[in-house]
This record gives sequence, structure tokens and C-alpha cells, in this order.
Amino acid sequence: MSAQRIRWSEAAAAGLARGPLTVAGGTVRVVADEDAPAAAVLLRRARAADVSALYELLERYAAQGLLLPRTREQVAATIEQFTVAVDAHGVAGCGALRPYGPELAEVCALAVAERLQGQSVGRCIVESIVEEAEATGVKRLFALTLREGFFNRLGFRTGRITELPEKVTADCAGCPKRSACDEIMVVRELGCAPGTH
Ligand SMILES: CC(C)(COP(=O)(O)OP(=O)(O)OC[C@H]1O[C@@H](n2cnc3c(N)ncnc32)[C@H](O)[C@@H]1OP(=O)(O)O)[C@@H](O)C(=O)NCCC(=O)NCCS
Repeated sequence: MSAQRIRWSEAAAAGLARGPLTVAGGTVRVVADEDAPAAAVLLRRARAADVSALYELLERYAAQGLLLPRTREQVAATIEQFTVAVDAHGVAGCGALRPYGPELAEVCALAVAERLQGQSVGRCIVESIVEEAEATGVKRLFALTLREGFFNRLGFRTGRITELPEKVTADCAGCPKRSACDEIMVVRELGCAPGTH
């Protein structure tokens, strides 16, 4: 399955502008512009009004140990780092780009609502964050994850946390998982196509 983000006008012209998602031939098309009707999945920057919905989405997965817990205040304080996927029912996915210096950044707080999992929304969110990171000069984009395979499919190689002293210094000492960290570090070098590094 391949995902792509296309403009709503193109989806409509191709006859894809029907149904709860614009699905055709196993490909989910997440439309990328603001004038898409409620039936589509839209990727956009997060807004202050999204804080509660984002907090609730992240909290569900934090309770399952899949994401680190975040308070509502932490989500609000970093809201400008988030990209959200929105469908007719509201916020259906998110991911954040957290900088660790001019050339290093993390994809974090990545989540897709159960109702949309497996339909390439997560891929589209990560690809959007990759584009955002590249546009701001980031050279290495990493994640700490229990979903190594998902990131490997998106061009991230599995590495070791010791490759990222900036991350260790900033976060590991205060992390609730510090004594028994099960997260896997995945990293993608930007500025080259996936699989070519
Ligand atoms: C992980 C998550 C974000 C994936 O989002 P999604 O929208 O379901 O994933 P997609 O449909 O975009 O999948 C893209 C590709 O990754 C694969 N994939 C999805 N989840 C995977 C997993 N857990 N392990 C391995 N591969 C996975 C898909 O099969 C697909 O591969 P393909 O293109 O070769 O068919 C989503 O399942 C989620 O929110 N999980 C709970 C929270 C979580 O674990 N977040 C990640 C923490 S870093």
C-alpha cells in the first residue's frame, strides 16, 4: 500500500471525493488542503483548540505504555510542534517535531486513533514531519519507539540511543522509563531518499 497526500481538488477530479476516507485500490489519500469536506482526512498544523483532543488521544496510548505520558499543560506548551490528522469525528492522529539543536530533531507523540489505523494516516503524518524537518535544515531525525517496524518501512534505520548524546542529556535522567528503557532508537538521515543511506 502506498500513501500520498493530494489536494482536495485533485481527489474530486479523480472521483475519490466520496466515503469516509478517500480510498482507491488500497491507497489511502489524505487530502492536504483546508477546504476538504468533513468526509476526508486532513493534515494540518495543530491549534490551541486541539489541546484537549490531542491530550486524550495521547493519554489512551500512554496508559497502554506505547507512549510516554504527557500532561495537558505539556501538550499546550508544545502545541506548535504538532501536526494533526482530522476526520469527520475530530482529531484522529498526531505527531510532533521536537528540535534538539539546528540539525537534530525527534518525531514524538505519534498516534493514530484506532478507527483509522492501518490506512496510511501514520505514514502521512511522519512524511509530513520529515518534510517539515528537511525544510528547517534538520539532518538527522530520530524516534524512540516500540514500533520499530513501522519506522523501518519509512526509511528509518535502527540504531542505539548512545548515538544521540543530546537526547540522553536532555531527557533520559528525568524519564519514567530510565531504569528499564524498552524503547528502540530509529533514525533517518535527511537530504537523501529512504533506503539510500
Ligand atoms: C504506530 C501507528 C502510529 C501507525 O499508524 P498507522 O496509521 O496505523 O500506520 P500506517 O497505516 O500508516 O502504516 C504504514 C506502514 O507501516 C506498517 N505498520 C503499521 N504499524 C506497524 C507496526 N506496529 N509494526 C510494523 N509495521 C507497521 C503498515 O503495515 C504499513 O506498511 P506498508 O506500507 O508496507 O503496508 C499507530 O498504529 C498508532 O498510533 N499506534 C499506537 C501508538 C503508538 O504506538 N505510537 C508510536 C509510538 S513512537
